Amino acid sequence: MFQNLKLGVKLNLILLSVFLVIILINGLLLSNILQKNAEQEVKDKALVLMETMTSVREYTSQQVNQGTIKKLSPDLEIDGQFIKTSVPGYSAREVFSNLREREQYSDFFYKEATLNPTYIPDKADKFETKIVENFRAQPDIKEKVGFRQLDAGDLFYIARPLQVNDESCLVCHSTPDRAPASQIKTYGDKGGFGWELNEIVGAQMIQVPASRVFEEARRLQLLVIGILAAGFVIAAVILNLFLKFSIITPLTKMSKWSRDVSTGSSDADFEHKSNDEIGVLAASVNRLKVSLEMAMNMLKQNPENP
Ligand code: HEC
Repeated sequence: MFQNLKLGVKLNLILLSVFLVIILINGLLLSNILQKNAEQEVKDKALVLMETMTSVREYTSQQVNQGTIKKLSPDLEIDGQFIKTSVPGYSAREVFSNLREREQYSDFFYKEATLNPTYIPDKADKFETKIVENFRAQPDIKEKVGFRQLDAGDLFYIARPLQVNDESCLVCHSTPDRAPASQIKTYGDKGGFGWELNEIVGAQMIQVPASRVFEEARRLQLLVIGILAAGFVIAAVILNLFLKFSIITPLTKMSKWSRDVSTGSSDADFEHKSNDEIGVLAASVNRLKVSLEMAMNMLKQNPENP
């Protein structure tokens, strides 16, 4: 069936098959690479946010808690109210919730998942508890990245250990009687105590819907397919023009010419300027025409003795 098709159709069928094969290979090989690439991109963004939250914690601890507030109100209360803004964990939580109001960060979640938290919503769930226990058992692990399944949809997460890294933390996190009375009034005396210096008490976690990673990968894949398709369209246009002007048009002319010569309606030579294969063919058919004319003339002069 392929033999019956015209040259142009054949060429375009071949180009289309090559394109499809390349798209297939691209789908199989590249999607894995693009997925990793998208993961890295989301991870990089999450890491910047995580580092920013760590800086917010450090700032609050050193400049607010140990600095201004310690001088202005050493018992950490104003009018009997606990000064929450002196707590590193509180300022990180608040800064992140402000950040989430911006569209491009609205689906990032921040949590200081803790085994025994001061603020109940910080309690590590089953999955997070495993991560924290892993960090506690192997303190040289500094980071964990992966996917987790939730009923509401899969999440991509990045986690780092949260360590009691300063003596000043123990004012509020060792025993309830050492903590400011106003803190106990606000947060109770059940959680967030009994921590020790250098203990890993939780995991700082940033989580993003996994669909964000997949969408990023799909966007890159569409871009690659788009670029490939554009390349193929340009190649197809150039090859079709070449086929038309270099092969099909001269061949069509040659077949019309040979029909005219064979029916006797023309005795002109076939004109072709190029020196490629078509040019060689043109020279050959012209020679063939001359040989044929000579044979015919001989036949006319000696009709009895061919
Ligand atoms: C002034 C008392 C105070 C100090 C000092 C303090 N914290 Fe806290 N911490 C709290 C309170 C109160 C919360 C709950 C804040 C909230 O509303 O999210 C908290 C929250 C946390 C959390 C989140 C989990 C939880 O318990 O809810 C971690 C982790 C934490 N603190 C670690 C530390 C570390 C590490 C330091 C020292 C750098 C420190 N804290 C210093 C009072 C304090």
